[in-house]
Amino acid sequence: MTTNLTAIVNARLQGRDGLHSLTVQAGKFGVITPQATSVVAAENELDAAGNLVAPAFVEPHIHLDAAMTAGEPRWNQSGTLFEGIECWGERKATLTRDDVIGRAEQTLKLFAAHGIQYVRTHVDVTDPQLTALKAMLEVKERVAGYVDLQIVAFPQEGIWSFRNGKELMEEAIRLGADVVGGIPHFEHTRDYGADSVRWLVELAHKHDRLVDVHCDEIDDPQSRFLEVLAAEALRLDYGSRVTASHTCAMGSYDDAYCSRLFRLLKLSGLRFLSMPTESLHLQGRFDSYPKRRGLTRVPELLDAGLKVAFGQDSIRDPWYPMGNGNMLRTLDSGLHACHMLGMNWIERSLELITDNGAAALNLQDYGIAEGLPARCIVLQGETPYEVLLGQKPVKASVRDGRVLVDRPVEAPLAGLNLG
Ligand code: FE2
Repeated sequence: MTTNLTAIVNARLQGRDGLHSLTVQAGKFGVITPQATSVVAAENELDAAGNLVAPAFVEPHIHLDAAMTAGEPRWNQSGTLFEGIECWGERKATLTRDDVIGRAEQTLKLFAAHGIQYVRTHVDVTDPQLTALKAMLEVKERVAGYVDLQIVAFPQEGIWSFRNGKELMEEAIRLGADVVGGIPHFEHTRDYGADSVRWLVELAHKHDRLVDVHCDEIDDPQSRFLEVLAAEALRLDYGSRVTASHTCAMGSYDDAYCSRLFRLLKLSGLRFLSMPTESLHLQGRFDSYPKRRGLTRVPELLDAGLKVAFGQDSIRDPWYPMGNGNMLRTLDSGLHACHMLGMNWIERSLELITDNGAAALNLQDYGIAEGLPARCIVLQGETPYEVLLGQKPVKASVRDGRVLVDRPVEAPLAGLNLG
């Protein structure tokens, strides 16, 4: 297995016909050249074997401080967001530095094995000791060789509704959090929620930080904090640095309200993140039948020219007992839930777990082009459709010219014995 590459050969690239070779120099992509035919990989060259090569996956929304704690100290039996917050409150009381570091790194290694090289994690800062935040700042340094980690100061129990909430947020930013979070739909009152959004956007703007708010993660059509967030982003001309996560309530808004809202969203240029497996599991819990899917209006946002990405949100935590790190599973669920299995959507679907996630994270040097860091994955399939059908682990993952993952192509009928 090569570790420091000079080229990737026999690669298929989205938007280009045929096979290509990509040279790598000093950890960056060099020239990209069409190949007339398949070639034999030389020493220090990675053979993509005709498979699709894409930028590394982005996991734009995860909670690493809570990862791998499902069932501790008890299982969330109702499956609601709110019982999840109660279970987490009990588990949070027992957090230690080593506990957080161990589970976060275990999860990030799982992500790396699935070709994820960029992660944004929310970290609960409604803890007077800020134990998880301090541990995650250490994790960021420890994992830098295989993942870029952004840390969100996330007020799980509210800013206005938690004692010293504002001071804890400010302290988290002072300690080094990259992104300012929020949870307006969980604040005690509508006024608290709107005030918290205005305050946190100002805080981010003042300290030159990004924004990512858990916004309207509820089926309540009266939960309308997204308009506050978008208006603040527009007022400060900050939309490309502001992300609205979840916006589940938009799935319950009426069309008349949405027609007005979308004008504001387009003006603001906000980024959107939807977590399909999580929302399918947590939302719709107060419906009998029909049951809402609890997802935001993903295709409509994309049609409006806005950037939307999918994230996993949880890996075996109090809110969601499942999760395996494979973004193709998340993508598959999201396309199903959002009625996006038309071939027009399937063909562009990888942007939901690559480019649009990079836009939410405000990454400046992401993609496959000459001069950019040589970070990419080799998928198992020649087209997005084949990749999606198989949902197989990535064949390879390359970071700055180093091979992080290189595994054999999986044969679909391997192991089958019909006697
Ligand atoms: Fe979340």
